[in-house]
Amino acid sequence: MRIHVHRTERGIATALADRLADALRVTPGLVLGLPTGRTPVQWYREIARRVEHGQLDLSRITTFNLDEFIGLAPDHPGSYRQFMERHLFAHAGIPPERINFLRGDAPDVEAECARYECSIAEAGGIDLMVLGIGRNGHIGFNEPGAELYARSHRATLTHDTRRSNAELFGGSVDAVPREALSMGMATILQSRAIVLVATGRSKAAVVQAMRRGRITTQLPASFLQLHADVDVYVDDGAGG
Ligand code: PGA
Repeated sequence: MRIHVHRTERGIATALADRLADALRVTPGLVLGLPTGRTPVQWYREIARRVEHGQLDLSRITTFNLDEFIGLAPDHPGSYRQFMERHLFAHAGIPPERINFLRGDAPDVEAECARYECSIAEAGGIDLMVLGIGRNGHIGFNEPGAELYARSHRATLTHDTRRSNAELFGGSVDAVPREALSMGMATILQSRAIVLVATGRSKAAVVQAMRRGRITTQLPASFLQLHADVDVYVDDGAGG
């Protein structure tokens, strides 16, 4: 894993936008895996700014988001789909038909997960997967546990994960769905390149364990040690 330390979140956002621009020069039809959460927000803002100024063209990319809450329709204000609309999709010029999402309101969850895996394969796989990390070591909604799932699946959320998502539901932990759909560990690890971003002192311990600790299902992000092309972007708080 290569580590990149920046003084500020703003510095990370700029570096990541540069990285995306470099990748697009090589592959204009990039297949991009995307996260939600607080961490990518500044990066999304920087992408939107560059698109608006004609410095970045996302009209040929395809995106796959990592996860979505079970039971929420794409237009539900607490859904990750709406989070992405607000922070990126409304400003980025990505053709809607190239935006892919697990549907939280799908009547048949297993069929929905299979459909998503097929769509990723049909797109040729993910070129660049961008990840945040939970304080408990989750990536996507692959939560710590005795076992992990290889493929897209139904996941039960930990209380900590629900608490950190309460903001999307008016601050109420009880309103956060208990389950979600998520890409699996193999879905993530089969991406050609992976970028993980962590900011703030609350992530310092988990970043250290992910990079230096044993590979364990109790810290799903530790499996990234098995991938040959991982860049970790941290600010001074999370890893400096
Ligand atoms: P955060 O979430 O960016 O809001 O810290 C990251 C995650 O839980 O994956």
